[in-house]
Order: sequence, then C-alpha cells, then structure tokens
Amino acid sequence: MTEASSLTSDKKYIASSFPKELDPLRLPKHIAVIMDGNGRWAKRKGLPRAMGHTAGVDALKKTLRLCSDWGVSALTVYAFSTENWSRPGEEVSFLMTLFKRVLKRELESLKLQKVRISFLGDLEKLPKELQALISEATDLTSKNEGIHFNVCTNYGGRRELVKAAQKLAIRSSKGELDPALINENVFAAELSTANVVDPDLLIRTSGERRISNFLLWQLAYAEIYITETLWPDFDENSLLCALVDFQSRSRRFGGLNQISTDHSSKRF
Ligand code: FPP
Repeated sequence: MTEASSLTSDKKYIASSFPKELDPLRLPKHIAVIMDGNGRWAKRKGLPRAMGHTAGVDALKKTLRLCSDWGVSALTVYAFSTENWSRPGEEVSFLMTLFKRVLKRELESLKLQKVRISFLGDLEKLPKELQALISEATDLTSKNEGIHFNVCTNYGGRRELVKAAQKLAIRSSKGELDPALINENVFAAELSTANVVDPDLLIRTSGERRISNFLLWQLAYAEIYITETLWPDFDENSLLCALVDFQSRSRRFGGLNQISTDHSSKRF
C-alpha cells in the first residue's frame, strides 16, 4: 500500500493470517517502537529526508495493521521527541504537516479497524490545528475496543517523570497524599501511560542501541530488539523476526526462574 492510498476503501478488510512461526499465547501484549532511520533511508535513495518520513508512515500503517490482526493489545510509537524540535525548522514543519495530513486521512480507517488512538507527550506545544485533530481522533476512537495505538508526540521520558513527581509533590503539599504512601503504583498512576500495560517488547530500527529518552519508566522490564533495518523498510517479515526473537527469550524479571512470555502484563 502506498502512502497516498487509504485504508478506507470499501474492500472488505481481511486480516493477515497468523504466522505459523509464532505461538499465539506468547505474544507481547504491548509493543513499543522507536521508528528510526527515515532520513538514512531517503539519503541512500538520493531523496530528500522528508520522503523518508513519508515512507515511514507506510511502514507504521502496516505495522499497526499487523499488530492488530495478530492480537497484540497495544502499540506505542515514538513519532516526535522533545529533542526533535532542534532539527532544522523545515523538517520540523514538514513533520507537523505530515502528522496533520495522516491523521485527517486515516481517521475513518482507524475507526473501521476499531483502533483506539491516544497521544502521549506535551501536546499543548504542538500547532493548534494538530492539537484539534488529536483531540478529535482521541475522542472519536476512545470507545473502540481494538488495539490501543499510542503516538508519542513531543514526548520525553525524563519530562514525563518530572511531571509525575511534580503532581505528587503538589498533592502532598496540599495534604492530600502522605509521601510515605508513594509507591510504584501511585507513581505509575501519574504517568501518561497510567492505564496502559507496560511494553514487553521494544523494537528499535536502524541499528542504534539507545533508548533515547523513550518510556524510561515503562520499559523497565521490556525485551529489547534491535534491527539494522531502516524504519521505512520495516515490513511483515521484520515484525515476524522481532516476535520470533521475543518468543525465544527467557524472561525472569530479576528472579531466577524463567517466566513464560504470557506473564508479561503490568506487574503492579
Ligand atoms: C526518526 O528517523 C523518525 C522520526 C523522527 C519521525 C517518525 C515519524 C513517522 C514515521 C511518521 C509518523 C506519523 C504519524 C501520523 C504518527 P530519523 O529522521 O531520525 O532518521 P535518521 O536517523 O536516519 O536521520
């Protein structure tokens, strides 16, 4: 499917068949993705960086559809970090326009697929028109019971932790919360992912081996999968490789006994 096409065609939506290589009972419940390598993809093809981001949207649509079809409950992607504002103004502005265009164009399709979309990050710093589209998409899909799709936009893990600490400090200073009662549950409830199970798999494309300020709290026990594939080239086979690798891992959560990957739900 090309970026210019839409999922909203009147063809019946046919779910991709479940790969025989995977155990359906040991899938990650929540996959987080650092979609890296759009610029390099474009450069290698002699194209402007913007074309890499546009191609990245195609890869994202495919990944969302596959995760939904295969039974993953949540997908969280890093679309724009708090650090990305330091890119050239032209690229930042292209990305903002791209987010708006894609949201407008894909909203009907997201509704049809029963996707529930949420946006995590400091949204009030985004262009007003984008904020309005985000609000509309969030509201119109909030009751959907399909995959929960979180788009981290102007998101930074440290900023999220500081904000949570501030909220708790305010409640404590008002006498509403005894500091001695602040535990992991109380803290996690102040994060933007309060009602989302922690990711059990983090995929990062383009071979970089960093977390880059992404979901610092939530990734505490995630399995990390790094692929050399650049994000626009990430396809069904790439996702399958990541999931096969995930299912080969022994997850011990700091203990000694292997815990089956189907016990990867939020543990607080
Ligand atoms: C990182 O590649 C990618 C980004 C900063 C943008 C990712 C955004 C998309 C794929 C579009 C998503 C759209 C919606 C509506 C959610 P890079 O530019 O850092 O690549 P490089 O490291 O090769 O330069």
